[in-house]
Amino acid sequence: LDPSRIRNFSIVAHIDHGKSTLADRLLEVTGTVTLREMKEQLLDDMDLERERGITIKSHAVSMRVDRDGEEYELNLIDTPGHVDFQYEVSRSLTCCEGALLLVDAFQGVEAQTVANAYKAIEHDLEIIPILNKIDLVHARPDEVKEEIETTLGLDATEAIGCSAKTGQNCAAVIDAIIDRVPPPKGNNDAPLQAMVFDSVYDEYRGAIIYLRLMNGMVRPGDRIKFLQAGTEHEVLEVGQLTPKRTQRDFLSTGQVGYMICNIKSLGNVHIGDTVTTARGKQAEPLPGYDEPKRMVFCGLYPSDGHDFENLREALGKLQVNDPSFVFEPETSDALGFGFRCGFLGLLHMEIVQQRLEQESDMDLVQTAPNVTYKIQTNDGVWNEVHTPTRVPDASDIKEFQQPVVRVNFVMPAEYIGGVMKLCSDRRGVFVRQEYLSPQRSMLVYDISLAEVVYDMHDRLKSITRGYGTMDYEMKGYEAGDLVRLDILVKGDRVDALSIICDKRDADPRGRAVIKKLKEEIPRHMFEVPLQAAIGTRIVARETISAMSKNVTAKCYGGDISRKKKLWAKQKEGKKRMKSIGNVDIPQKAFLAVLETG
Ligand code: GTP
Repeated sequence: LDPSRIRNFSIVAHIDHGKSTLADRLLEVTGTVTLREMKEQLLDDMDLERERGITIKSHAVSMRVDRDGEEYELNLIDTPGHVDFQYEVSRSLTCCEGALLLVDAFQGVEAQTVANAYKAIEHDLEIIPILNKIDLVHARPDEVKEEIETTLGLDATEAIGCSAKTGQNCAAVIDAIIDRVPPPKGNNDAPLQAMVFDSVYDEYRGAIIYLRLMNGMVRPGDRIKFLQAGTEHEVLEVGQLTPKRTQRDFLSTGQVGYMICNIKSLGNVHIGDTVTTARGKQAEPLPGYDEPKRMVFCGLYPSDGHDFENLREALGKLQVNDPSFVFEPETSDALGFGFRCGFLGLLHMEIVQQRLEQESDMDLVQTAPNVTYKIQTNDGVWNEVHTPTRVPDASDIKEFQQPVVRVNFVMPAEYIGGVMKLCSDRRGVFVRQEYLSPQRSMLVYDISLAEVVYDMHDRLKSITRGYGTMDYEMKGYEAGDLVRLDILVKGDRVDALSIICDKRDADPRGRAVIKKLKEEIPRHMFEVPLQAAIGTRIVARETISAMSKNVTAKCYGGDISRKKKLWAKQKEGKKRMKSIGNVDIPQKAFLAVLETG
């Protein structure tokens, strides 16, 4: 196929602005699938995605269009809209020459519109603004055009208004793609050079690798090499998604498609890797290969200790499909045997958790999420720490760094004050403020990721009555005034309850935890002092006073069977208690603390 007839593009949008609906419509307008074949939300083929309405994994669909007797191949590369998957967004955009910037003509520009548009601009893509949902009576296309121009500095005069739902003016979108998106460059005669932008696991075929050819060609029987991984394989099949997997004799320069090579684990396929030929002259690696970073960690424990091996198996299965998720065994005084799991972000964490629950019927306990810190000890060595118990004593810490993110908030102007207060309460550093229109505003702050992870999104939604949106991107690590706050029960430190927090928050956090524990730990025959401490400095204390009565005493020695029942119950309760020193702490008490962080 002549590269001048190929157009590779993505749709970037804020969640719910209609990306999946427009993708469906484009497939229909181009006759790629007929209405009858069209299942709803064709691109979102994972159940969970459909449920959440978030396109998690990128796919690529090829459409053929005949215009004035010329055939064009349009490849739509789907990008995940959410911040956790920014890395995948970036890889997908590398494979395109253009992007449809889809904005809901009623909602207007939102936080992820901005973040995703910036990404597309960074990648030098031709950007075509599309105003969707013009069928809505309240659509305000002219204002939204202005928002696009002020926030993003794009020319929106030629923005296309359409309705992905009714199909109105969607054919114009196809014309714009052909007319405005530049064709790919590259050379069929050069050595194979292809970017891996995604992979999925198929039980029967192994890894299915999605790639975009920058140069050269690939066909079944070829020996190929992954430049980063350093591995070589024989190509068994190549093809394109239409949207079903459709075999082709070869893929040529500029095309987007899939490749199957009998690779048994996704762990061996790296998104962002470059594919070249294993024989003869090899291509240069494409820039930008980077390991995905796990930014958020939490502990997952089976409520029933017998489920430990089942949990390991379930986690292993998940990882085959999602190598960006990691886990390792850990033990906790409080929760027994479990796993420390690492995720790209909060949403990724939620998705993994939901999948676990759907695919196995284990009852799981999840600890409060925390982020990855970097700590330099006095001997000059840096360590990455993603669990509070691994934080060395304060006297041995030279520098304690935390990840900081740049957060965009978009909201109606009346809520600016509230959002600013939220950010300053969380020690955010103001970067700038912009008006998208007289009614809507964007605020940009640098905030520690730990604060964002804690409950920022929920707080934003409640402050703005649901109208505020946010997005963030990693800025880097910065030194923080951080401490490990320990909880002592009758003088013993309880590992599972340690937290990492800003020194200035330590006192209130400590007091809150101690108060919770006091409510949840039953009285003992002796006094139980509870303390929160930084090193040897106690920042909060409470005491659970002693009691002396036996619970059976109130049965007056009457009904013996009732007494027995009570004893049995007591014993049962004991089993679910952990003894720290000689204090019994019910699991419920740990959970109350862990779940709130
Ligand atoms: P994510 O997958 O969450 O990113 O959402 P999305 O951007 O793919 O949005 P989706 O296509 O799922 O559409 C979100 C909602 O908007 C759905 O309820 C659609 O039916 C509706 N919608 C999409 N396009 C239009 C349109 O042109 N007009 C109207 N009235 N509704 C639309």
